[in-house]
Formats: sequence, structure tokens, C-alpha cells
Amino acid sequence: MNTNGNIYQQYAYSYPHKQAYRELPPMTLAEVWQQQPIHNLFAYLHLPFCEMRCGFCNLFTISNPKTGVQEYLQALQTEAQTYRDVFPDLQFEAYAIGGGTPTFLDVDDFEQLLSIFKQDLGVDTHGKYGSIEASPKSITPEKIALIETYGIDRVSIGVQSWLEAETKSLGRPQTPELAHEAIQQLVLSDIPEINIDLIYGITGQTQQSWQYSLEKTIDFQPVEIFLYPLYTRPLTGLEKMNHTQADHRLALYRFGRDFLLSQGYEQVSMRCFRKANTPYPATTYKSAIDNMVGIGAGARSYTQALHYSTHYAVNRKAIKAIIKNYYLKNTADFNQVTYGIYLNKEEQCRRFIIKSLIDGGRLDTELFELHFKTKITDFPLINDLFEQGWLVQNDSIIQLTAAGMEMEDFIGPALFSSQINLLMQEYELS
Ligand SMILES: C[S@@+](CC[C@H](N)C(=O)[O-])C[C@H]1O[C@@H](n2cnc3c(N)ncnc32)[C@H](O)[C@@H]1O
Ligand code: SF4
Repeated sequence: MNTNGNIYQQYAYSYPHKQAYRELPPMTLAEVWQQQPIHNLFAYLHLPFCEMRCGFCNLFTISNPKTGVQEYLQALQTEAQTYRDVFPDLQFEAYAIGGGTPTFLDVDDFEQLLSIFKQDLGVDTHGKYGSIEASPKSITPEKIALIETYGIDRVSIGVQSWLEAETKSLGRPQTPELAHEAIQQLVLSDIPEINIDLIYGITGQTQQSWQYSLEKTIDFQPVEIFLYPLYTRPLTGLEKMNHTQADHRLALYRFGRDFLLSQGYEQVSMRCFRKANTPYPATTYKSAIDNMVGIGAGARSYTQALHYSTHYAVNRKAIKAIIKNYYLKNTADFNQVTYGIYLNKEEQCRRFIIKSLIDGGRLDTELFELHFKTKITDFPLINDLFEQGWLVQNDSIIQLTAAGMEMEDFIGPALFSSQINLLMQEYELS
């Protein structure tokens, strides 16, 4: 297995990537979900709006839409009701509200969004474990109060860096004072878990400035901290600025990891660090095998054999068109699936392995073998990963070693099938 010196290939948090999705012959929701369990689901809601378009970000979102927010919320409600009408027994065990930036909405619209999720889709936001994304600029005491009222367990907020020169170089105008005030409010609230995102590998960032951002972050003692290596992706502001500098991500990763481990945090995955002795609230939902219902433009939904979503794009014009198309949809349109990808058994096995290793750091071989009636060692790549010293097995659990964890963005893509790689390449060339 040769890295050719580039271990930063891609963050494989899902598989297959939406770049591999294609047009499908139309099917109704009932046809898609036939014989699929609908009682142990994850619910996801996507709000594709932000107050700014950060230079590094290629997520499915647009900044400051002048019109269309109310239309979007109404369409979201229709989509949620369509699911409920077709499947009155849908049951969600965990959830996330993401984007974009859900807190971009003004207070009334934000309340409407939460109500659609709870009342129309039927997510028990109090009883089940769930998370919402926020940005320092858009979070306010009123929105925090609503998050508390709805019993949402976790808020994830992007700081990226505590130095203004660095957020500026990322193409994200944000002052440290603004981030400080936002996080202070969150820490003092009744929300049980706060997560703070930081980025390393920024132009001009040094070990010293990285240490400063890490120290400022742990001053707040958030339950979780995510450390993201910077990626400069096609069609983003950063790519257009054409920044080049020596790649110091691995050195900064190791420094950040060792620092957080020395400060009472445990490492869950390459990016995720969690305060010691704060286990995740119990949920029966298992992301490697269980299904997901996603609502909103850009959201995906997963059954075992079919993943589907609205169309995918990165540039503003195309995203705007997809959002507009979304809010013109009626019940009959929401009942039709037309874009996605089928997963044969081999792809389902690959997905299980990728989700288990990259997302949560542990692969349950008993669950794998029970679910797929195949031995994990039938995948030669797993044996290669053991030979590299990147995996270790304790009883039935396979985990990444420390050496493996820092290679996650190489290991994930190495597990993609050639067919999925081909579809993704075709998309990039189109
Ligand atoms: C949905 S955003 C976070 C929530 C919110 N919209 C905000 O920006 O504060 C998820 C996180 O992914 C990370 N991220 C996104 N694109 C990235 C990139 N190209 N390189 C590194 N990290 C990235 C950032 O840390 C970002 O906070
Ligand atoms: S990083 Fe967050 S605020 Fe910035 S464009 Fe991406 S989703 Fe929006």
C-alpha cells in the first residue's frame, strides 16, 4: 500500500460520495422502503443557508439568500409530512440538524424549522440523542433558548482558529471576540454537549499559533473538539486564491492530538476528541447498518441497498437552482426518488467497514459477519491494513492503531471500490 507521500486524500465520512450518485428511474417512497426497517432510523434535516461562504467550504449551501427562505421552510414541511403520510410508523432513534448553518435563520424561522422536525417529521428531540450545527455569528440567546426548549443534546460550532489573521486567510471573516461571546453563551446554557471545530494546516499557521488555538478552546472545556486538516477543494474561494505553502498538516495533527490527550481528552477518531469519562448517551442506532431519512435540499437518505438525495453541486449557481427546484416541489414530487445509487452486497460491506473505522474508530466483526454472512477477512484490504500496522484486533473488535488513525484520510479512500472511484472521476470531469 503506497501513499506516494500524500495521506490527505479525502474525509470519507460517508460512502459512496454524492459524486457517485446518478439519475434513477423514478420510484415511490413506498417502493424504495419496501421491506426496509423503519423503526431504528436516523433523522437528518439540511438547511443549505449560511451568513457567509467560507473560503475552504464546499458543503451544499449558499450564503445570504435574498429570497426563498420561507418557501424553503414550507417545502421542508411538505416533505416531512409526505414521509409521515406514507409511513405513519416511522421511528427515529437519533438525529442531526445540519447544513449550512441552521442558526442562520431568524428566531421565528428557526422555531418553525425545529417544529417541522418535531411535529411534522415526528422526531422526539427530547427523548433521543441529537445534534445541531451553529456558527458564532448566527447563534443568539433566543436561539439557544429554543435549542434548550427542544431538548437538543449537542451544539457543534465552527471556530476554526482563534487568530483573526488565520480565519481571514481561510476566507472566513470572524473575530475571536465574536467566537468567545458565542461559546461563552453556549457553555453557560443547559445544553449538555458543546463541540468546537478547529482547522490545522492554515497558511501562516505555526505550531505556536496552533497551540494558542487549542489552549483557547480547552479553556471552555467543551465535551468534544473536532480537529480538521485543511483541504483546498475545487471551486472553493481558497482554491481560487491559489494559496500554496509547505504541507505541515501531519506535524500539526500530531501536536494537536498529543496536546488534547495530555489535557484529559480521549481520541475517538482522527478528527474527534472527547472529554474523558463522558460516554455517548445510549442509542440503538448503528450508523454502519441502520437506515436514515434526510429531508431538505442536499440531504441524503439511506436504505441498505439504495442511497438517494436531491441533485448534487458545489458552485453557487447550480446549488441555487437545486434549492429553487426543491421549494417548487409538491407532495407527489416528494414521494418520488429519482437520484441516487444502488449498493450491491460488496458495496454495502465496504460501507460498513469505512463507516466503522473512519466515523467511530471501531469495527464490530461479529455484527459484520452476522449482518452480511461473510467473513471480514474475505476483504483482502483488511489484511493489508493489518500488515501496515494500522489495525489491531481485540476479541471481535478491530480498531485503528495510533499510526492508523493519522492515516484515516488515506485508509478511507483506499477502501473505495474501483467502480465508485470511476463514477466520482466522471463527475469531476463533467
Ligand atoms: C457544517 S461546518 C460547521 C458549522 C457552521 N456552519 C460553521 O461554519 O460554524 C462543518 C465543519 O467542517 C470543517 N470543514 C469544512 N470544510 C473544510 C475544509 N475544506 N477543510 C477543513 N475543514 C473543513 C470546518 O471545521 C467546519 O466547521
Ligand atoms: S463552514 Fe459553515 S458557515 Fe462556512 S460556508 Fe461552510 S457551512 Fe457555511
